[in-house]
Amino acid sequence: MRSHYCGQVTEALEGQEVEVSGWVHRRRDHGGVIFIDLRDREGIVQVVFDPDSAETFMSAERVRNEYVLRAKGKVRIRPAGTENSNMVTGKIEIIGHELEILNRSEPPPFQIDDECDASEEVRLRYRYLDLRRPEMRNRLKLRARVTRHLRNFLDDHGFLEIETPFLTKATPEGARDYVVPSRTHQGKFFALPQSPQLFKQLLMMSGMDRYYQVARCFRDEDLRADRQPEFTQLDIEASFINEEQIMGLMEEMFRDLFAHILEVALPKNFPRMTFAEAQYRFGSDKPDLRIPLELIDLTDLMKAVDFKVFSGPANDSNGRIAAIRLPKGGELSRKEIDDYTAFVAIYGAKGLAYIKVNDKAQGREGLQSPILKFLPDEVIDGIMSRTGAENGDLVFFGADKTKIVNESLGALRIKLGHDRGLVQHGWQPLWVVDFPMFEHDEKDNRWVAIHHPFTAPVGTLEEVAADPGNALSRAYDLVLNGTEVGGGSIRIHNPEMQQQVLALLGIGTDEAREKFGFLLDALSYGCPPHGGLAFGLDRLIMLMTGAQSIRDVMAFPKTQSAACPLTSAPSDIGLAHMRELGLRPRQAATPAAAE
Ligand code: AMO
Ligand code: AMP
Repeated sequence: MRSHYCGQVTEALEGQEVEVSGWVHRRRDHGGVIFIDLRDREGIVQVVFDPDSAETFMSAERVRNEYVLRAKGKVRIRPAGTENSNMVTGKIEIIGHELEILNRSEPPPFQIDDECDASEEVRLRYRYLDLRRPEMRNRLKLRARVTRHLRNFLDDHGFLEIETPFLTKATPEGARDYVVPSRTHQGKFFALPQSPQLFKQLLMMSGMDRYYQVARCFRDEDLRADRQPEFTQLDIEASFINEEQIMGLMEEMFRDLFAHILEVALPKNFPRMTFAEAQYRFGSDKPDLRIPLELIDLTDLMKAVDFKVFSGPANDSNGRIAAIRLPKGGELSRKEIDDYTAFVAIYGAKGLAYIKVNDKAQGREGLQSPILKFLPDEVIDGIMSRTGAENGDLVFFGADKTKIVNESLGALRIKLGHDRGLVQHGWQPLWVVDFPMFEHDEKDNRWVAIHHPFTAPVGTLEEVAADPGNALSRAYDLVLNGTEVGGGSIRIHNPEMQQQVLALLGIGTDEAREKFGFLLDALSYGCPPHGGLAFGLDRLIMLMTGAQSIRDVMAFPKTQSAACPLTSAPSDIGLAHMRELGLRPRQAATPAAAE
């Protein structure tokens, strides 16, 4: 039904007969001549109908937006002055002499254009219309190219694409599981995988050597712009490698991808930073290096000041005082400072002290701040020299538990960077390494794994057991422009170490056998040293397309409350079906469900 895609009809086809099919993007009636912009996956072309062929013209008069047409005609160069330089096909038009209306359309709930003012709920309900918008279609096209490119790279480097089950057992990645009731084993449940972690390790134990998968993962967690309940990982694992080798290969893969898809040259070696340095300098384990602001530590300066807000944390081994110098921040109004104070409160900060630098030369008199009166001259001098503040700058302060200071100033740093137009252009990849092995959960008074419980620690079993709080892991994250796009580790390949780590996490021998017995068994039958990582494909595509949310690079995403407005999932399944699965409704079923 077509000789060319609409978007491919260019001046090279002048004088030729073409056949195109697609959707009516716009129809304009210019008294006697009808112009139809016809759209398909590859673009838009203008087809012109004049009244010379009466039947065709009558059909053209009947069409409305989003009708589906097939048209035949001759390509001609547009008359001078009517070209459209914004369109690939803007130099030509098709003089239509045949027109078939293949289908009609109701008036769409929103105009199919890049600018779309419909709410996201409406866009998701009519996703098939939303995906007709060039912006959305181009993102999905880029996504397909990226996935193909990554697959080719890994195929060329000896990786085997292997599928792993969806109906499986809980995999501890730190989120809640989605579960599926079993009909044949009533009262029992499958868990959908949070990642293929254990299966890919089992594949290494199976001797597959190098594995990858474009794998769907399911996590029941609080959703954000960069999190979805089901999302896609490029999941990778290899045997007989160390972290240098896997990180090196992944850098090569990223350089290759960015060069081909975006024509961007990423650095030859991606910078690396320890987790500790990232927290200290940027208050985050995923620093956005495009923003030239840093946290400057002042803890030691504040031990003896007569200001409880500062001296308290300064004398607490878990406390910290840090500052951010904002160049030209003196311009901020009282209201803006109050807004930033409210912003850091989201992260638990109890206030946001500041000093405006009006005129350095005047010493204390040249500064403006609600806390000056609490600070002796030598402390003020220390602040000025460490932050390097200049006239017109503003210095913000955070004082609290280290975690709160890092989280609040880390977030403020990002916000200031965006609000004040300080974000530099380009791509800043960064490996974050030397993560701690465990984090202490104060609420439950127990250790939790920072990556996952299968990550190898640095050091021996005895060393880790003696001081879990200071044990480092052999984990690495890839951060791109402040987004964690991937993470992984070298794994534990020895059953005793695995048992020990599970024990430190409070998973006793019986529970370990029940949950991970299959893994512990497999570890004892000749497990090769191995490691790998997984990239969040949706996040990567979001960054590469400049989209604001991963929902905009997924064909059929869920809403913030993990529902699908298009299909109305999740939905009732009906009493009969529930009974068959051995489930009982918690409350009276709705009439619709009780068939
Ligand atoms: P991790 O949990 O760090 O590691 O996940 C790897 C990457 O997946 C992406 N990601 C998500 N993307 C969208 N929505 C989500 N809810 C979501 N959660 C995670 C992130 C993240 O960096 N099995 C390990 C990997 C390994 O050790 O090999 C794992 O899943 O970009
Ligand atoms: P206060 O003495 O509570 O009025 O606070 C004086 C200044 O210190 C105000 O600008 C507060 O925003 C700021 N402030 C209070 N608590 C903190 C804190 N934990 N960290 C940083 N600044 C704070």
